[in-house]
Amino acid sequence: MATDRRVEQFTESVSFDRRLYAQDIQGSIAHAQMLAKVGLITADECRQIEQTLGVIRQEIEQNQFSFCTELEDIHMHVEKALTDRIGDVGRKLHTARSRNDQVSTDLRLWVRDAIDTIVARLSDVQRALVGRCQADIDIIVPGYTHMQRAQPVLAAHYWLAYCEKFQRDSQRLTDCRHRVNQLTLGSAALAGTSLPIDRDDVARRLGFEGVAANSIDASSDRDFVIEFVFCLTMIAEHLSTWAEEWILWSTVEFNFLKLPQAFCTGSSIMPQKVNPDVLELIRGKTARVVGSLQTLLVLVKGLPLAYNRDLQEDKQPLFDAFDTVRMSLELAAPLMAGAELNRPAIAERLDRGHLDATTFMEYLIGRGIPQRTAHGLVGRLVRKALDGNVRLSDLPLADFREASPELDESVYVVLGVERAVAAMQSYGSTAPAQVKQQVELWKSKLGAI
Ligand code: ARG
Repeated sequence: MATDRRVEQFTESVSFDRRLYAQDIQGSIAHAQMLAKVGLITADECRQIEQTLGVIRQEIEQNQFSFCTELEDIHMHVEKALTDRIGDVGRKLHTARSRNDQVSTDLRLWVRDAIDTIVARLSDVQRALVGRCQADIDIIVPGYTHMQRAQPVLAAHYWLAYCEKFQRDSQRLTDCRHRVNQLTLGSAALAGTSLPIDRDDVARRLGFEGVAANSIDASSDRDFVIEFVFCLTMIAEHLSTWAEEWILWSTVEFNFLKLPQAFCTGSSIMPQKVNPDVLELIRGKTARVVGSLQTLLVLVKGLPLAYNRDLQEDKQPLFDAFDTVRMSLELAAPLMAGAELNRPAIAERLDRGHLDATTFMEYLIGRGIPQRTAHGLVGRLVRKALDGNVRLSDLPLADFREASPELDESVYVVLGVERAVAAMQSYGSTAPAQVKQQVELWKSKLGAI
């Protein structure tokens, strides 16, 4: 009896898994070559399969291939097209193979490429940030904690903070790639096969680093997909923090940053408006990436071994998370490179908020005053400055002497944001010498900027 039309529509995956066509054909060619090597098909049959699969690939790429939902997925489409053309020889391709290990293999090949793409886009973003460091090296900005002005920092130190985050994202992906890059083909439905296949041979042909050691695990595992999507989610989270900050920094209230016009849009009703829509969408699309991760985690929860049809639902969240993060990164890089810091507005703001108070406290510690005492002493001086609506460095020496009789003219050496920044010494701090050294390290790590 024919399948109910509604079942067909409900269960098909070809509308989205056709995206795996190149990996499916690549995997099938390697599989056929192995079958020929071990004598399960002849060399001539293998040649016919390879050639015909090549033609099918071309047809798909040139939009000359017709897809229909009667054939559930991309794997069935390719195989059917093959047998339509070469008959019984095509019917041999599925020897010692099941769609369960086939789909896992295709997906691993796809994720492997996706990882390489994202790693490359991350380094474009890092290059944009390091490029900014060179241009902004002498700019000091207020640093915040709790969104309150805290201490002065170099703008370049800020950019490099993001570079570090994206570097960890990149390392996570590189590490994840080793677990993705394992051959699952040859696990067949779930138990392996009684036919004399050579899995190491297939692994070599497809560039896999290893061969999955348990056929039940291999045919049911999707943690490689989830791990990759988690890596994507972390990137989206990092991008969302950056986007949020730049949205704030580009407001009239902050006025720290001018975004490149080409990456902003106007309002249909308020003619004066320039909106940071791209940044808002980078921030907003993080939600759907998190949603994809959530979908995948819920999908596999409590799923018994081995293959279950539920697993077909892994592809859309995977593809969507990848597309979203890739696009976000592709927009982030030119946006980062094209924005301009508003030097005068930032400089003017640095004089407010007593950003040098902490460094001044550390200067007092250096003069032998216990930290808690120094903290209280600076607190009192800050209040005095606030009362007089002046900076700490504007207070007369008498005020410092009153706070502590041991103080002398040298207090002025650490006051003011430039001096506060220059006084930093610790590794990883915002001291200009430290930051310049880090910029150089990033330049050599990333190659030409
Ligand atoms: N379309 C399926 C998927 O994407 C392929 C594997 C189907 N296997 C099966 N025994 N029905 O997961």
